[in-house]
Amino acid sequence: MDSLLIHGGRRLTGKVEISGSKNSALPILAACLMADGKSTLHRVPRLSDIDSMTKLLGELGCHVFRHDPPGVGPWDGPSLNGPLDVQVMDERCCEARYDIVKTMRASICVLGPLLAKRGRAVFSIPGGCAIGDRPVDLHIRGLQKLGAEFHTVNGNIVGEVRGRLKGKRMYLGGAQGPTVLGTINVMCAATLAEGETVIVGAACEPEVADCAQLLNKMGAKITGHGSPEIRIEGVDRLTGAEHYIIPDRIETGTFMIAAAITGGSLELRHCNLDHLVSVTDMLEEMGVRIERQNGTARVWCDGRVTPAEMTTQPFPGFPTDLQAQLMSLLCMADGNSVITERIFPERFLHVGELNRMGARIRKVEGATAVIHGMSELQGASVMASDLRASAALVLAGLVAKGTTRVDRVYHIDRGYEKIELKLAAVGAHIERVKETRAVA
Ligand code: EPZ
Repeated sequence: MDSLLIHGGRRLTGKVEISGSKNSALPILAACLMADGKSTLHRVPRLSDIDSMTKLLGELGCHVFRHDPPGVGPWDGPSLNGPLDVQVMDERCCEARYDIVKTMRASICVLGPLLAKRGRAVFSIPGGCAIGDRPVDLHIRGLQKLGAEFHTVNGNIVGEVRGRLKGKRMYLGGAQGPTVLGTINVMCAATLAEGETVIVGAACEPEVADCAQLLNKMGAKITGHGSPEIRIEGVDRLTGAEHYIIPDRIETGTFMIAAAITGGSLELRHCNLDHLVSVTDMLEEMGVRIERQNGTARVWCDGRVTPAEMTTQPFPGFPTDLQAQLMSLLCMADGNSVITERIFPERFLHVGELNRMGARIRKVEGATAVIHGMSELQGASVMASDLRASAALVLAGLVAKGTTRVDRVYHIDRGYEKIELKLAAVGAHIERVKETRAVA
């Protein structure tokens, strides 16, 4: 199992190319199940979650082909990826097997497309995960409203459609607010339903809008995406299309925090700060400087940041996927900060590991943590529990004294493309090690 060794204390300076969004690419790949003919997707990142999704698409009868990179990228970092073609060749298989679903919960994205296009879906029920209980009841409820019928057999959800799905007006919010992948699942299914669907309480995340844009290129009739009310006029068929995946806003935010935590200066290429207003506002209030120019952001920070109070919220609020990384930064602030997690209330497994590095974070009642600033972080062997927690530990390692060893790096490989290469290219002392090696 790979680990990352980070020798802290280096200021990061230079350029970072932001990858395409993982959380946009995953449902978009699943949406290709509904199209006749070939779809070509640009800027699909090379990540293990993408590999899991393409494997699943392969099992579901798709031919998936990654082209060679277009040559040297527009900058001197790791080269860009070649586009990915997806074409459905055989529609007989309707099953998402447990061994794929258990490694990647986003495999649930195939549910809506399979029901809409093939009339049947067998889906292994995903278990809990490190960030807490992650139910799929809203996905099921929305698809039921479109006319799908569900029953459970041996740990599998079996969904069936008699005839064609039927458009419906529905409310899709839950106790924790809207659901991102649930909205996408129902929106996808509704594109091939008979009549009009209106999703009220829809997720407004940029990944939902990105998927709607691809579907519209395929021939769907979707309006209102990016707002809490999405309207979908069903069509008879979708055809393959070409699409550029939006930049990864969580990777962008993570590198912004990397610049801030190391007192460095990074130029982030190919990012979209319109997707990160709550984050850039908060960082600027903390003393981080951000300059925007046509898809490029220059981020720098001189000295300590000021403390902050932050609550995670659905888009456009502060994203839960940047909560752990912000916590690492707040350990270095010149005062005490408070973070409340409203999306996944149990998403605090990084607290214990950061405390092992010398942070002083106290989990108080409910889903709130108090972070005492002015920490002197020390390198330690720490263990990643989930993707964003691993990123938080890497960020802490960049500023800690001595060497930090982050184990279970497979979590980070799920969502950060070439992270150690990108960090090393801007001056971090970071290496990937395969075997167990003592920390110096
Ligand atoms: C997406 O997960 C992302 N995953 C997550 O990113 C992200 O943290 C999350 O949205 C919130 O922004 C992908 O896009 C692949 P939700 P998703 O349904 O759609 C509750 C990362 O690190 N809920 O919006 O599965 C749920 O428990 C990952 O990249 C129900 O109650 O999240 C949560 O409290 C982790 N019933 C809230 O809604 C349901 O049926 C929002 O979850 C579905 C969700």
